[in-house]
Amino acid sequence: MPPAYFLITGKIMKIYQTLAIAFIAISSLSLTTIAQADGAALYQAKTCWSCHGKDAKSPLLPIYPILAGQNADYAFNQMKDIKSGTRSNGQAIAMKGVMGIVSEAEMREIADWLASQ
Ligand code: HEC
Repeated sequence: MPPAYFLITGKIMKIYQTLAIAFIAISSLSLTTIAQADGAALYQAKTCWSCHGKDAKSPLLPIYPILAGQNADYAFNQMKDIKSGTRSNGQAIAMKGVMGIVSEAEMREIADWLASQ
């Protein structure tokens, strides 16, 4: 039987652990929510919707891609490639201009939001 001191310390440690886990869970949850809110706001502010549709599902022209539900890493890489000119096939030139006002951090946030739609 360990001394009472250790038992109490053990209990306190358990409480701290539980609190820490709860804290991490809550903060990562709110970070995700913030990132998604930012992604949605950026998608509006950077005029992405004008070609890809307000809901990212109803593009301006039938040959423009539907972005909702797209894999986040894939979408991020396509944005980077269109911005740099590495991807210049198809209609990519139509989008290249707007990418001048979109940073990589913003692309990431938009990509994460698109994937969640
Ligand atoms: C002027 C119209 C236009 C605007 C504005 C525009 N895009 Fe695009 N986007 C396109 C077109 C057209 C393509 C398809 C290019 C092709 O044919 O290869 C495309 C492709 C993409 C792709 C790759 C899709 C895939 O499946 O490969 C992503 C991701 C994307 N756009 C995101 C965005 C985001 C985010 C914004 C806002 C920052 C944006 N676009 C603004 C026209 C536009």
